[in-house]
Amino acid sequence: MTGRSPARAVDPDAFRAVSRHWTTGVALLTVRADEELFAKTVSSLCTLSLDPPLVSVAVDLRSPLVAAARVAGHYAVSVLTDRQHGLARRFAAPGAGRALGLFTGAPMRTEDTGAPVLEGCLAWFDCLLHDVLPGGDHALLIGRVVAAEGQPGEPLVHHDGRFHSLELDLELDVGPGPVPDSAPGPPGPASGAAPAPDSDPVHRPTAPAGAR
Ligand SMILES: Cc1cc2nc3c(=O)[nH]c(=O)nc-3n(C[C@H](O)[C@H](O)[C@H](O)COP(=O)(O)O)c2cc1C
Repeated sequence: MTGRSPARAVDPDAFRAVSRHWTTGVALLTVRADEELFAKTVSSLCTLSLDPPLVSVAVDLRSPLVAAARVAGHYAVSVLTDRQHGLARRFAAPGAGRALGLFTGAPMRTEDTGAPVLEGCLAWFDCLLHDVLPGGDHALLIGRVVAAEGQPGEPLVHHDGRFHSLELDLELDVGPGPVPDSAPGPPGPASGAAPAPDSDPVHRPTAPAGAR
């Protein structure tokens, strides 16, 4: 991204352009509802309250995850490592929210609430749905954390429409070829990582900017 992003005319495009300056981690929001699994790449995770322990995630109202979380009464958020950039891309694809068949290669286990948690992630929060608040074209899913765990590792970072690794100091989504879900072995350039369609709605030309 080059040049300045003037903030005066806050139309969706301007909002989107300025929002690209905000750097976030990347997580997988997951729900199990009516024996169906739902997953979605999110960057809007917020640790909202310590007492009680609450997190929030802003979810596009068009996503099946909103209804699924209401039905299930739970959700989990798995914070992704830099090795999991392939999963971040897979679950950011349009329509990926209803994750039929997409869990292949994404090992999950069930935690206390019944929500699926991603194996090998950097940290996870298992939540009972505490409240759903309106947030423009997004719903703010507030979760009461009933279990959580973290482990050492390198986070996947999202900035300016691209995935990054703090450790590798690389832009992970540059280069041709298929993308592994999680690259085993020593850190190195994402072997032939494909330029992903930029499916973050903040940067999606057709979608109104969301709350992230
Ligand atoms: C880095 C990144 C962060 C994203 N964060 C969010 C988010 O916080 N909330 C959201 O609703 N969509 C977010 N998206 C977009 C969704 O991942 C994507 O639209 C969705 O998975 C498509 O499936 P669905 O429309 O069936 O839910 C993000 C995408 C990317 C690449």
